[in-house]
Amino acid sequence: MRFEKISLWRNLMKSLAIVGAQWGDEGKGKFVHLLSERADVICRYQGGNNAGHTVVTGGKKYVFHLIPSGILKKGKICIIGNGVVVNPFALRDEIDMLKANGIDPASRLFVSDRAQLIMPYHIELDTAMEEAAGIGTTKRGIGPAYSFKYARLGIRPCDLGEKDYIDKAVMLALEEVNSSLAGRFKRKSVSKSEVMGKVREYSDILRPYTVNTSKLLSHFISRGKIIIFEGAQGVLLDVDFGSYPYVTSSNPSSGGILTGLGVSPRAVGQVLGVVKAYTTRVGGGPFPTELSDTTGEMIKKRGNEFGASTGRPRRCGWFDAVGVRHSIQVSGIDILAMTKFDVLDKLKSIKVCTHYVIDGKKTDEFPSNASVLERAVSVYEEFEGWDTTAGVKDYDTLPEAAKRYIEALERLLGIQILLLSTGPDEVDTIFRGKLAID
Ligand code: GDP
Ligand code: IMO
Ligand code: MG
Repeated sequence: MRFEKISLWRNLMKSLAIVGAQWGDEGKGKFVHLLSERADVICRYQGGNNAGHTVVTGGKKYVFHLIPSGILKKGKICIIGNGVVVNPFALRDEIDMLKANGIDPASRLFVSDRAQLIMPYHIELDTAMEEAAGIGTTKRGIGPAYSFKYARLGIRPCDLGEKDYIDKAVMLALEEVNSSLAGRFKRKSVSKSEVMGKVREYSDILRPYTVNTSKLLSHFISRGKIIIFEGAQGVLLDVDFGSYPYVTSSNPSSGGILTGLGVSPRAVGQVLGVVKAYTTRVGGGPFPTELSDTTGEMIKKRGNEFGASTGRPRRCGWFDAVGVRHSIQVSGIDILAMTKFDVLDKLKSIKVCTHYVIDGKKTDEFPSNASVLERAVSVYEEFEGWDTTAGVKDYDTLPEAAKRYIEALERLLGIQILLLSTGPDEVDTIFRGKLAID
């Protein structure tokens, strides 16, 4: 028994967490897809269909919102964990999209029976609350679904078939929903029969996929299978460590993995942070390195910086080493993957924020309060631009100025940038070394 435990521990280290280290859309989908080749199981642990993860392969583009981005790789197991908030209609659309592309995820896609369901009233509440709060949410019901979870008013796949239980759960949820919707927001109230109709539809969609995913995953881990944990959003959107309240309602940082999947703390091996060579942000909230000039417009255009989920334009700015260092620290990031070098091609000079000045004081700490972050003035180091990195697949053939930029960022961040991306397609990638799962 003792020896079994030791070998289990060794196996547990063969896993890779892939987390966004900025404000989302760093290119996680590309790397999850690419690295899934080396893994057996790919899991989402938080967020919902607020995510939009793009994969470009074989001349085709796919966008995933709920299903792990490893699903395109043949035979890989994909798990949507209990920490995810699931809209079954969005899941059905994604399954249909896969089927239309000749991929049937049945038998290798599993949804946790403990995941929280996004109910139509969560979406209505998100929309109504957004008008007052101005966070710039995706209006997909994410915040209300998580709020209901913690208020113990949530509904989960494992509840759907329990008639007396679901009757009471829906009744309790609707008391809360209608006091807000009809009372506070003066909108139409929601009837129980409406909700019960959705419950039946949800049940039909989810039944073939629903299992106890924590148990399933621990089975795979104990057999030495290689696991990828796919983060959604980014650490600067983390509800605990991001630019609160301008954040999402879950823990995209690696800490979310344990409770979002029900695995041992030792199940997380290496943590790979994904960053862009610059910074983007969708929605409201402070953004110290934002560029509100022609350079910002150029990056938006060249980088095609429009949300993969909502199509909203992304705000663009220079790389913020203060924010990324904070993400590295709170998420235990070991190595980085950096995307979108090609977008900066041909710029004369490129800036990196090395620290902030707040109320006249120099600091390298990412502030906890959003008003303080709003007052942060970025202090920049300037780098010489380069001609072309687009499509480069080998580190040695990168322009010298691009290499200087990468190496300077490594010094500023204190960790290695192991993977580089020079185009949206999976083939446009530079590997500078091995990962722990190799
Ligand atoms: P995610 O949410 O982190 O998975 O990122 P998104 O898919 O929302 O946004 C990243 C966008 O950048 C997608 O359109 C990708 O196809 C694209 N992309 C990823 N890497 C690169 C790159 O190196 N160069 C360029 N030009 N585009 C990239
Ligand atoms: P991926 O996984 C970028 C942002 C929204 C908003 C805030 C709260 O593709 O990186 P929410 O609907 O989650 O309550 O909105 O979070 N946001 C994202 N921004 N990429 C994402 O996901 C995001 N998911 C949410 O724009 O500012
Ligand atoms: Mg995205």
